[in-house]
Amino acid sequence: MTLLIKNGEIVTSEKQYKADILVEGETISLIGENLIAPDDAEIIDAEGKYIFPGFIDPHVHIHLPFMGTFARDTHTTGSQAALVGGTTTFIEMLAPAGSDELRDGWNTWSQMAEGHSACDYTFHIGVTRWDADTERTLRELVADGMTSFKVFLAYKGAFGIEDAALFNTLTLAKELGAVVTAHCENAELVSQLQAKLLAEGKTGSEWHEPSRPEQVEADGTAHFATFLEMTGAEGYVVHLSNAKSLKAALDARKRGVNIHIESVIPHFLLDKTYAERPGVEGAKYVMSPPLRDKSNQAALWQALQSGEIDTVATDHCPFDVGQKHMGDDNFTRIPNGIPAIEDRVNLLYTYGVSRGGLSLSRFVDAASTRAAQIFGLYPKKGAVEVGSDADLVIYDPNYRGKISAATSHVNNDYSGFEGFEIDGRPSVVTVRGQVAVRNGQFVGEEGRGQLLRRQPNQNQPSQKQAAQHLTSAEARG
Ligand code: URP
Ligand code: ZN
Ligand code: ZN
Ligand code: ZN
Repeated sequence: MTLLIKNGEIVTSEKQYKADILVEGETISLIGENLIAPDDAEIIDAEGKYIFPGFIDPHVHIHLPFMGTFARDTHTTGSQAALVGGTTTFIEMLAPAGSDELRDGWNTWSQMAEGHSACDYTFHIGVTRWDADTERTLRELVADGMTSFKVFLAYKGAFGIEDAALFNTLTLAKELGAVVTAHCENAELVSQLQAKLLAEGKTGSEWHEPSRPEQVEADGTAHFATFLEMTGAEGYVVHLSNAKSLKAALDARKRGVNIHIESVIPHFLLDKTYAERPGVEGAKYVMSPPLRDKSNQAALWQALQSGEIDTVATDHCPFDVGQKHMGDDNFTRIPNGIPAIEDRVNLLYTYGVSRGGLSLSRFVDAASTRAAQIFGLYPKKGAVEVGSDADLVIYDPNYRGKISAATSHVNNDYSGFEGFEIDGRPSVVTVRGQVAVRNGQFVGEEGRGQLLRRQPNQNQPSQKQAAQHLTSAEARG
């Protein structure tokens, strides 16, 4: 397979320039002006288009047993939707229940993806309890290249983890050079507030946000940060949703805590009034942490441009309308989650770059490069460099369209972004040198995706993080 991509504008987290790209086999072999096509090459004319490194979604749920049901995508549908939207690598949350053995969880998740994902993928290893088996399995999985963990401080009685287990997990992560990602909400406060609201007869989806308010997330964020501080581990807050929690994370960073911040696309564009819609219309917008008061969005956008927020993910988690009806008379039974894997890049480009103040370089950094750096994938992923994997997105900024569940590749019957305009889309997407998307259609191969094994981070995390945040300061200035 040889591809010559001509006349495009290459945009990375650091620079923007016009050049041709030669792809031989699975990697980029040459970048330069007026490259001559080898005889067997397919030539793609990218005139008027951007060429971005393949986007990375560092937080998705594909296989997810949750609240007695399962999220709707399979690795077949989820990966195809990802690719159509320009995401060439995702990191899935392996989330076994607290009662499951971690090794069994690994077998289940890895077997479901293998042979089905069309894009590359890897896993954050969910730690839902602590015992000798868990520790042994974590050591084995890190040695096998699964160098990030996931803990839930919320979801008492399901995935939620106790403080002793949190401490042990972080201590092991520090020893092994693994990054620990965390869903930060105070679980006890959520339980108490849910019970109180239900007892008052407040059962509709509009009570989901008041049952886990901003302070509850800020408390969880500060709690996680303190545990990072005490153990010296490297942490990553997932789906941070509001200004109070942002402050908690940034305060910790100022004290030298090695903490990265992710926000997810729904929190930039949707607010709590969506979940206040009557009946199942509101339930469609129930996720945790909840959609917030709109006033938080300006703070998120600003922190994204400054690089204080490292990454923009999705927390992709599709439940269909029938499943959302499970909570008709009790908001605590609504399966949490909003699908976004196909739409993240187009929405961030449209409302960040095209219509907002987000720079192209920070867009690429937040949606691709920074995740690759934090999670041990760089520069194989997240870069347009000779030797990098030829995961490329040829992006058409002149495309105009609207998001709709009817045209989505996600296996779901609604979209949280129905009717949202988009000012661009990927016209061609490659996965390790093979074209997987043309003109918005999936033309790739089921099962071509590889499980990505990663290196643990060097034991100088604070230097690495300082370097990353310097890069973003440059992007800003
Ligand atoms: O509402 C959400 N986020 N559902 C998926 C599970 C999680 O908390 O990430
Ligand atoms: Zn979560
Ligand atoms: Zn960071
Ligand atoms: Zn999640």
